[in-house]
Amino acid sequence: MQVERYERIWMWTAGVLIVLFLGAIFLTAATQAVQPPSHIETVDPTTIATHPEFGNPVATTRLDGSVVVPVVAGMFAFTPDPIEVPANVPVTFRLTSMDVIHGFEVVGTNANAMAIPGYVSQFTVTFARPGEYPIACNEYCGLMHHAMVGKLIVK
Ligand code: CUA
Repeated sequence: MQVERYERIWMWTAGVLIVLFLGAIFLTAATQAVQPPSHIETVDPTTIATHPEFGNPVATTRLDGSVVVPVVAGMFAFTPDPIEVPANVPVTFRLTSMDVIHGFEVVGTNANAMAIPGYVSQFTVTFARPGEYPIACNEYCGLMHHAMVGKLIVK
C-alpha cells in the first residue's frame, strides 16, 4: 500500500503528540502529586450540623505533628474560614459539602478537590511557603459562586 509522504508526516506528528501528552500526564502525576483524591468515605449531608467532626470543624494536630483540617463547603462559604496551618508539615484536608457540589482550590498550590455532598474528599499536602492563600470554589454552585472565597494562612 502506498502512503503519501505528507500523510506519513502527519501520522507520525499525531503519534508523537499523543505520546507527549500522555507522557505529560504521567510525569505530572509522578512528580507533582497530581492524583485522584482519597478513598470512599460517606457522610450524611443532612446531619452535618450535628456531626462530631463536621458540625464544628476545627483543625487538630496529630501526635506526629501533622495536621488534620475538616472543611465544610456550603453556599457560599467554607467553614472554617480562615484556615490556619503550619508550613512544612503534612496537612490532611477532609472535605465535604452540606448542599451542592463545590470546589476547593488553594490558589497557587496543587491542593484542589471537589466537595461532594454525601462524601468526604481527603488529600494531604505540605505547604512549603508561609503566606496567605485564597481558597476558591471552582465548581459552579449558584448565584454567588463567584463570591465563594476562603483564606488559608500558612505560618
Ligand atoms: Cu461553591 Cu462555587
